[in-house]
Amino acid sequence: MKTIGILTSGGDAPGMNSAIRAAVRTALNNGMRIKGIRNGYDGLMKGDIYEMNVSSVADIIHKGGTILGTARSTEFKEAEGQKRGAQILTDYGIEGLIVIGGDGSYKGAKALSDLGIKTIGIPGTIDNDMGYTDFTIGFFTAIETVIDAIGKLRDTSSSHGRAVVIEVMGRHCGDLALFSGLAGGAESIIVPEHKFSIDEIVEKVNHGRKRGKLHHLIVLAEGVGNPYTVAKEVEERSGVETKVTVLGHVQRGGSPSATDRLLGSIMGAKAAELLKDEKTNIALGYTNGQITQVSLDEAVSIKGDFNESLYELANKLSK
Ligand code: F6P
Repeated sequence: MKTIGILTSGGDAPGMNSAIRAAVRTALNNGMRIKGIRNGYDGLMKGDIYEMNVSSVADIIHKGGTILGTARSTEFKEAEGQKRGAQILTDYGIEGLIVIGGDGSYKGAKALSDLGIKTIGIPGTIDNDMGYTDFTIGFFTAIETVIDAIGKLRDTSSSHGRAVVIEVMGRHCGDLALFSGLAGGAESIIVPEHKFSIDEIVEKVNHGRKRGKLHHLIVLAEGVGNPYTVAKEVEERSGVETKVTVLGHVQRGGSPSATDRLLGSIMGAKAAELLKDEKTNIALGYTNGQITQVSLDEAVSIKGDFNESLYELANKLSK
């Protein structure tokens, strides 16, 4: 293969730049040309495509976000848009494409693969909601961001003797809430994978009070409940003043953690090598300590298991 392309799509995630850097340099080292496509599938439809060289990816390994820009494209979800996208890639001489993103991005990648563009997917999302891989690029940095916030909220909550509901991202997946709640020592973790009861939270708040605990940290995965309603109910029923912090997009930024840089570097390089070998329809993953490969269709259809043992552990340790 002579020329490949690379794009990032969907929500940005720290570590995407490490993957871009590795893919670009591996492609060049293997005598291929590589073109960057700006702003995901949206940019592809607009032909926003440029030649990349070794310097295009200098000084980016430590940077959050994505130097290519990203977007959530509606046109590319339709078959007509996908056909037009494949044609644009062909017009630019791009025979193979690396797509870094989440589930939605993979669906577009699979469509391109079916249309004859060799395509490799790299999982990039802070949500860790792709069942075929243990971890996605960006997840660990987001955990660091959340536990930094939890630590600060613990300080002020203890000083004032308050509880606090901390809403974290994750879309429909409780992993970010679970992992950061456990790592941050939260007293209550609310995730979409489990029914939650205000009674149980109130019981924990009261139990904590009795043994002299001044704060109560409730990590709430987005979409499970309204954080202000949860806080109001906890406050009314426990008598403990309860504040709300919605962490929002701060969780998507920041310099990538070592893990995300490593995952990005290894997967970016592997994706370019696979295209050099004319491979297509592959999603790279990280499972049981190994870099793994499944087809893009499998990648979007495999529903991962929620980590019940971690959830149990978090509950036991917070008592
Ligand atoms: O998929 C990443 C994510 O940050 C989710 O956690 C969140 O639900 C969503 O994207 C927010 O999307 P947007 O940036 O388009 O508001």
